[in-house]
Amino acid sequence: MDFTTTLLGLNLKNPLIASASPLTSSVESIRRLEDNGIAAVIMHSLFEEEINHEIHQIDHFLHINSDSYAEATSYLPSEVDFENLQADNYLEEIRRIKESVSLPLIASLNGISAGGWISYAKKLEEAGADALELNITYIPTSMEMEGYRVEQMYIDTVAQVAERIDIPLNVKMNAYFSNPANMAKRFVEAGAKGLTLFDNPTRVEVDLELLSPLQRANITTSYNLSETLRWCAILYGKLSCSLCANTGIHSGEDVLKAIMSGADATALASVLLTKGEGEIKQILSDMDEWMEKHEYESISQMKGSISLAHTDNPSVYERNSYMYALQHYRR
Ligand SMILES: Cc1cc2nc3c(=O)[nH]c(=O)nc-3n(C[C@H](O)[C@H](O)[C@H](O)COP(=O)(O)O)c2cc1C
Repeated sequence: MDFTTTLLGLNLKNPLIASASPLTSSVESIRRLEDNGIAAVIMHSLFEEEINHEIHQIDHFLHINSDSYAEATSYLPSEVDFENLQADNYLEEIRRIKESVSLPLIASLNGISAGGWISYAKKLEEAGADALELNITYIPTSMEMEGYRVEQMYIDTVAQVAERIDIPLNVKMNAYFSNPANMAKRFVEAGAKGLTLFDNPTRVEVDLELLSPLQRANITTSYNLSETLRWCAILYGKLSCSLCANTGIHSGEDVLKAIMSGADATALASVLLTKGEGEIKQILSDMDEWMEKHEYESISQMKGSISLAHTDNPSVYERNSYMYALQHYRR
């Protein structure tokens, strides 16, 4: 069976990628993923706040020194050239991983604003990352902030990162824009070479003993795959970029549904965290069995086969399917 595919211009032996999670934070666990057949890895994120924390400390240091010693700042290097422990550890991790495994490595930056931290994108490339994923997760809480300004903030951040790097940039989108299709188009115009559909928000809970809300990392099931399938099918063939399906990929069937909807590859976190890396082999074997039975020979043959690319009016199709689903519910 030919499982090969391409994503972000990278050749993959199969469409299974390890999504950013604690499993992609060390050489040892990434090697286990590779041994079990994963085709590529997206590292856990380096957060804007982790970079800026150190930058702010440096600003503070510069401020104190410049008060007492006027020339102190003139010979000091620019702020991000300072030793930045957390961020520098991340760069070191990239180098170590690249020395130890042969699969494509996608670094991950997680931030929300245009600022000094963005210059780290180039450093991730120089450390050896084959591509960069950018996760922008911003929860606007101000009633004065209009939607178009939130969207523009996302676009500006993507454009600033894209401008600084030569490796392909992947944008990990969320599904909560008024029009995800318009945002997808604008991300590509801003320089994205790939889109991940979609990031999954953290889960909000309330601790009744502490009387406080708290957020937890969200472990999904296949049930959460729905929006991903919908938007892969809508966007397939419309943009000059790759599509990676994410959120709710737990089985061989989930992978095949995503590919047939229009994804080039799929990214997995929850299934690997809950069932272990061994599940990769099971997923690949289930895909093989299904494809064999239904006389498919390759992943490329299946891509987008049930997408909306050939539907004259996808909005009407979506509306009709919606009505049909509600009107034909049977208990
Ligand atoms: C424990 C945990 C840690 C995660 N860490 C990151 C992260 O560092 N950066 C990121 O972009 N996504 C992170 N994610 C989100 C996953 O990469 C993925 O997008 C999400 O879990 C949906 O995929 P899934 O349904 O396969 O779990 C994390 C998810 C979990 C459960």
